Amino acid sequence: MKVLITGATGLIGSELTEKLLKNDHSVNYLTTSISKIANKNNYKGFYWNPQDGTIDENCIEGVDVIVHLAGASISKKWTNNYKQELIESRLLSAHLLFGLVKKSQNQVKQFISASGTAIYPDSFSKVYDENSPEIEDSFLSNLVVKWEESANQFQLLSIKTTVLRTGIVFSAKGGALAEMVKPIKFGVGSGFGSGKQVQSWIHIQDLVNLYYFAIINQTEGILNAVAPNPISNQELTKTIARILKKPLILPNIPQFVMKLILGEMHILLFQNKTIIPKRALQLGFKFEFDTAEKALNDILK
Ligand SMILES: NC(=O)c1ccc[n+]([C@@H]2O[C@H](COP(=O)([O-])OP(=O)(O)OC[C@H]3O[C@@H](n4cnc5c(N)ncnc54)[C@H](OP(=O)(O)O)[C@@H]3O)[C@@H](O)[C@H]2O)c1
Repeated sequence: MKVLITGATGLIGSELTEKLLKNDHSVNYLTTSISKIANKNNYKGFYWNPQDGTIDENCIEGVDVIVHLAGASISKKWTNNYKQELIESRLLSAHLLFGLVKKSQNQVKQFISASGTAIYPDSFSKVYDENSPEIEDSFLSNLVVKWEESANQFQLLSIKTTVLRTGIVFSAKGGALAEMVKPIKFGVGSGFGSGKQVQSWIHIQDLVNLYYFAIINQTEGILNAVAPNPISNQELTKTIARILKKPLILPNIPQFVMKLILGEMHILLFQNKTIIPKRALQLGFKFEFDTAEKALNDILK
């Protein structure tokens, strides 16, 4: 199978690329950096610039599946300009791919897009699965809705579409977990707010396996890309500290302090969403890291 990946040079994309190559698939990828373009037998880079509508059209040759991971990082301060970049980097890129697939001779059968759990509203009582109709009214959630619409437009071309609503990715190589771990490592860690807010997370290896599963099984529709056992912020912080054998300083950091430091983005630390991967489990996907304890032991060891 030949897979075209956008954002292949990022945290998730680089691991997915490795998994596909190991299993004898070929990877084409689109990058916004000319310096990241490589050209090997089964691994070929192509330049694009979604902002000005540039794309190397050769990228689509022989491609069976497109995996769209590209997007400006959510963990930078959300100024008005940056909010625009968060939106455009995901939507203009999807539209550019759509235009190319529509006008070219190709054999693309499936379009898979990253998506986010931000779409679900905060709740202490609800457990969300892929059938939950509730949608939060926030900047990030509205972005996710448009992001998923941009993926679903591929159905107009009779292409199967899948979106992976991804929780916080636990990886040793970066992302949100690395930021949570830093202060704890230095002995100045603590929880946030009441610490009761539930966070839905997934080990990078399970996430990559789920993308692979979606490709191999030509999955359609929504998949919650989260582990089956979400965890409260307090438990998560305590577990990290225990594994690292570090103390936690008390009390927890109040929300207004984090708002002063991070601006609107601080809500990521206080979101309270219990989300389960009902469809993945129903489809027979096996999580290797089903509890945060297992995942953190693997990553922080
Ligand atoms: N990591 C998480 O916890 C998490 C959680 C939920 C959802 N997601 C989503 O999953 C996707 C992949 O996440 P990741 O953690 O692998 O992200 P990442 O490490 O930040 O990589 C994203 C890639 O997107 C490309 N990119 C960055 N800015 C861009 C822009 N302005 N225009 C076009 N392309 C741009 C870059 O590739 P080039 O430099 O090669 O162009 C970059 O390597 C993202 O859409 C992210 O929002 C991630």
